[in-house]
Amino acid sequence: MPQLKVLICGGGIAGNTLAFCLSKLGHNITVLERHPEIRASGLQVDLRGPGIQVLRRLGLEEAFRARTVPEQGLQLVDAKGKSWGYFPANKSGKGFQSFTTDFEIMRGELCQLLYDVSKERVEYQFGKWVRESSETEAYIEVLLSDGARERFDLVVGADGSGSQMRKMLFGDEACSAVHPIGVYAGYFTIRQPVRQAEEYNATVLICPGHKGIMTRRGDPEKYQAYLLCREKCATRLGNARKGDVEDEKRGLAEVFRGAGWKTEEILRGLADADDFYCERMAVAALDRWSRGRVVLVGDAAYCPTAMTGMGTSCGVTGAYTLAGEIGKYCGNGFNTDECDVVAKDRLTAALTKYEETLRPFITTVQKGIADSDDYMGGLPSSAMGIRLVYIMFWITSLLRLDVLAKWVLREDTKGWQLPEYKVMDHAE
Ligand SMILES: Cc1cc2nc3c(=O)[nH]c(=O)nc-3n(C[C@H](O)[C@H](O)[C@H](O)COP(=O)(O)OP(=O)(O)OC[C@H]3O[C@@H](n4cnc5c(N)ncnc54)[C@H](O)[C@@H]3O)c2cc1C
Ligand SMILES: *[C@@H]1O[C@H](CO)[C@@H](O)[C@H](O)[C@H]1NC(C)=O
Ligand SMILES: *[C@@H]1O[C@H](CO)[C@@H](O)[C@H](O)[C@H]1NC(C)=O
Ligand SMILES: *[C@@H]1O[C@H](CO)[C@@H](O)[C@H](O)[C@H]1NC(C)=O
Repeated sequence: MPQLKVLICGGGIAGNTLAFCLSKLGHNITVLERHPEIRASGLQVDLRGPGIQVLRRLGLEEAFRARTVPEQGLQLVDAKGKSWGYFPANKSGKGFQSFTTDFEIMRGELCQLLYDVSKERVEYQFGKWVRESSETEAYIEVLLSDGARERFDLVVGADGSGSQMRKMLFGDEACSAVHPIGVYAGYFTIRQPVRQAEEYNATVLICPGHKGIMTRRGDPEKYQAYLLCREKCATRLGNARKGDVEDEKRGLAEVFRGAGWKTEEILRGLADADDFYCERMAVAALDRWSRGRVVLVGDAAYCPTAMTGMGTSCGVTGAYTLAGEIGKYCGNGFNTDECDVVAKDRLTAALTKYEETLRPFITTVQKGIADSDDYMGGLPSSAMGIRLVYIMFWITSLLRLDVLAKWVLREDTKGWQLPEYKVMDHAE
């Protein structure tokens, strides 16, 4: 079957995974990345469940392991710094991952890895994005930000949680499909050389009043800080001028001041941080992921938020499934017959099957989050309630119960199986 000409908008985790898979199938792939270079930044992410299987099937486990973060486990501390139990990573390869997985990596490293293994076969164009698109029965034409017009068989929106492609495709419907869950999160790193090996543990402090702090380290020179709080308890932050980073920092600091443990050090780090990023967490839940010759993948289509611990796994699993269905219905691009084209109904069938196959998995991951506009509101917040949480954490850690991945995070796919794609196994 002939070669498909595919435009992928967004060179992040999902976009690069898809580019890797589709180019392996011999299709002609262009990635448009809005950033002037590959955007290899972000904090620590991990792979779980089907995300790990995808990594293995794509033959990338070894390359991944060469870049992982040596985090050992998760400990909970109280305001006095006393430790309340510990969950080590489970490296047995059996059962669910722990909070710290056997597959921890900095987002930038994963993004760079996926780019490195794709770039020989894929055309990357940086500093560009799609302005408009129009479709006929035979092709889709896009107008790029530099004024160029180009035709493709398929356009993929892999442009993340703030997706422009989603808005272009679904208009107002796209806006109402993004549900804030009532949680603010601030992310940044603090420059401080590692002093003791213990620092390669993730450490969490849960505070009364719906807020928490986590630190983790992936680098001997600096550690990462994650500050989470309920939107309703952060009025000043809510009123911060959008994009005014200093104002956001002050709003966030106000929420956490006096929380104990090493909060003061972290707030000094916050004031100095040059990589601070604040997000209002939101789930993307669309009724459909494609229309005509445009399809969405990753956070653009089904951002599950950092609360689920599954964003990266959903991104790579979605990209792999989409590539697999395209391979199944539209074939590979190695036996190109110049005058032949892939019939539109085959493409439509592939996009439909992608959604049909993946949606049960996404629904499970997003369950209970997609429809909550005050996610933290339901969690314990009184001093007494928090004390109970600490005691339960301590008991479950003593009993080595596997609770985090299953109940707090969304690794349990409830029986959903990653489909087999023979066509991908045999790809070059
Ligand atoms: C800079 C950055 C840092 C992140 N840090 C974290 C983190 O610390 N922890 C975490 O859990 N998740 C983080 N994420 C989100 C995480 O990568 C995703 O949840 C997940 O991996 C799914 O990836 P994705 O490819 O769908 O989206 P992303 O990884 O967000 O990738 C989207 C890509 O599209 C590009 N883009 C955006 N708009 C356009 C456009 N109009 N045209 C072309 N390209 C466009 C972006 O520059 C980006 O490269 C981060 C994302 C980014 C972009
Ligand atoms: C993709 O198509 C363009 C022309 O449309 C061609 O120049 C390029 O070499 C092709 N790339 C691959 C990998 O087939
Ligand atoms: C890892 O998980 C497996 C399977 O659930 C379990 O048997 C094993 O004891 C766990 N190991 C650790 C270190 O928690
Ligand atoms: C992580 O913390 C646990 C419990 O506090 C400790 O026993 C362990 O040594 C720490 N890990 C590392 C890598 O030091």
